[in-house]
Amino acid sequence: MTPATLSTPTADQAPSEPIAQPLFIGPLKVDPPILQAPMAGFTNYAFRQIVREFGGAGLLATEMVNARGFVWLDENEAEHPDRLWGVADEPRPLAVQIWDNDPPTLAKVGRRLVEEYGVSVVDINFGCPVRQVTQKAHSGSYLLSQPGRMGAIIEQVVAACAPTPVTAKIRLGCTRDQINAIDIAQVVEGSGAAALTVHGRTAADMFRGSADWDRIAEIKPYLKRIPLIGNGDLDSAEKVLDAFRRYPVDGVMIARACLNKPWLFAQAAAAVRGLPVPPDPTLEEERELLLYHFKLVCERFGTKKAAVLMRKYACCYAQGRPGAREFRKHVAVIESVEDFHEIVERYFPRSS
Ligand SMILES: Cc1cc2nc3c(=O)[nH]c(=O)nc-3n(C[C@H](O)[C@H](O)[C@H](O)COP(=O)(O)O)c2cc1C
Repeated sequence: MTPATLSTPTADQAPSEPIAQPLFIGPLKVDPPILQAPMAGFTNYAFRQIVREFGGAGLLATEMVNARGFVWLDENEAEHPDRLWGVADEPRPLAVQIWDNDPPTLAKVGRRLVEEYGVSVVDINFGCPVRQVTQKAHSGSYLLSQPGRMGAIIEQVVAACAPTPVTAKIRLGCTRDQINAIDIAQVVEGSGAAALTVHGRTAADMFRGSADWDRIAEIKPYLKRIPLIGNGDLDSAEKVLDAFRRYPVDGVMIARACLNKPWLFAQAAAAVRGLPVPPDPTLEEERELLLYHFKLVCERFGTKKAAVLMRKYACCYAQGRPGAREFRKHVAVIESVEDFHEIVERYFPRSS
């Protein structure tokens, strides 16, 4: 077993009917229709590689990449953003998410991603609620209040990237009393996007409350051509199954839960295919996984930066485990490979 695989469950039941069919983003078949969400600061190459090795995610996404920043680096002959680490060479399919508010800049970067990086999908962020993106850069979820500009962005990016599909990721609206996801969905489809992902909260909600899947479902009848992907609060194979059973979505996207369970896609994929769900890895397997993840990050960033970067992943992996608080406290101050190994050995013990 490599560090990132799940053992096959003993099949004590015959496979039942699959719950969900593959979805198509333009010509791209997404099978199973379970997508790994873009997450800034987390879904870098190392993390994606781990998700990929466990399997079960039909499409993986990068962190969001700022289009203006990309162009600036380019014009100043600097290296392309760290957030594009791995993108040129890693397996496909892969979506790269971009954000900004200037249609020609986004179109230019979309084109570069298609031509130079050969990405499978260019996704545009219309959901980020962070002040720096909304208030300062009038981008992300701020654009939900500007449907005209959203349309112009999508049209220009679609034209620049063709035939590579372009998708959009939104929230329900800016605030609870300004929910406009149905109107926005029609703008997204009418402007030529190939899929729509909806996180069932408003920007003002940030991550408070529960994702409103009824609101996501209301959008479905208004989309004539493109798939609807629902997102929010899916943290188990059962919840993924339940989402497909209860709501008219073509696909689902998982974000936070996969940070401490990158094997969740494999479990959810088995569930929707009507197969037995593989068990969680053992503590020992998780230890191997953490060390493998650290190795991948070290190879790119060197040990010092990797130690800092690994703090947040290690905390995610530890979530909900006995001793998690103590583990987090120790991981927060690691500075070297040796520190990291020592802490992992202590909290993820070997069985013999
Ligand atoms: C740490 C973090 C970073 C995120 N970064 C992005 C991002 O770069 N682009 C984006 O569209 N959404 C981003 N999101 C939102 C997620 O993709 C997702 O829509 C949201 O977390 C809801 O899904 P969940 O309940 O499965 O976590 C981020 C979320 C988190 C927790």
